[in-house]
Amino acid sequence: MRHLLGIEGWRREEIEALLDRAEAHLPGGSASSSVLQGRVVANVFFEDSTRTRTSFEMAAKTLGAEVLNWTAQGSSISKGETLLDTVRNIEATGPVALVIRHRSSGAPHLAARHVRCAVINAGDGTHEHPSQALLDAFTLRRRWGALDGRTVLIVGDILHSRVARSNILCMKALGARVVVCGPPTLLPVGIQQLGTEVAMHLDPVLPQADAVMCLRLQTERQSESFFPSTREFSRLYGLNAQRASKMKEGALVMHPGPINRGVELAPAVADGARSVILEQVANGVAVRRAILEVCV
Ligand code: CP
Repeated sequence: MRHLLGIEGWRREEIEALLDRAEAHLPGGSASSSVLQGRVVANVFFEDSTRTRTSFEMAAKTLGAEVLNWTAQGSSISKGETLLDTVRNIEATGPVALVIRHRSSGAPHLAARHVRCAVINAGDGTHEHPSQALLDAFTLRRRWGALDGRTVLIVGDILHSRVARSNILCMKALGARVVVCGPPTLLPVGIQQLGTEVAMHLDPVLPQADAVMCLRLQTERQSESFFPSTREFSRLYGLNAQRASKMKEGALVMHPGPINRGVELAPAVADGARSVILEQVANGVAVRRAILEVCV
């Protein structure tokens, strides 16, 4: 594997091999912490990030690499420089990998065709966020042993979510049943073709779930109004304490972050006993260490 552009096309055994490798990258694991010694990894973020950027930085540094952090803000993008010129110029400074986030679907794929180093997709538009799906699957696999036969319910803004798309592909490949739930206007036409079931009402499906993944309303990608109000969305699809009490015993609450507290997820649930949200973040470092190890 030279690039990580998406989960699409991955076979189960390939995902499992990456997750197995990530186990060795957990704190105290057997993986070497010097495989990237003397090398540079470039974070190339055209969109904002907290978790993904810091996690890739932590992963690269703990493998011995130096990290170049480039962000669009303050760059020559403001002077009209193109995506390709930007990545080719950054590549010319010598990194072994470009970790790219961009608002346009397909941007990392385009970059990968024009550079010699590894390209890792850190989220492209509404398309894919493969490292997020891998760390989510890793988190569930560590909790459950395997995803086979488990039901994962993904709730909220499915239409604009690259996390949802990558997670559906990843979790289906690992044998889970995946159900997506949200307002009809935020459910992409044909989403069932990815192998997921669709529910328009949360309350009937919530008790079936072994894990509920709440998604943020991506207002930055919404040029029109998709529902009457945020309050209405929260009333119908928000996971509050009263709703969470209807979940299965032991069922988990997930969120890729950042959370709109009080909208898709109540603070008491986000910080409650069911929540594995910070576990997802912690596991992300091990998963990204494994990704860097196999790509570079
Ligand atoms: N989950 C995720 O992509 O978070 P960031 O936008 O903070 O990177």
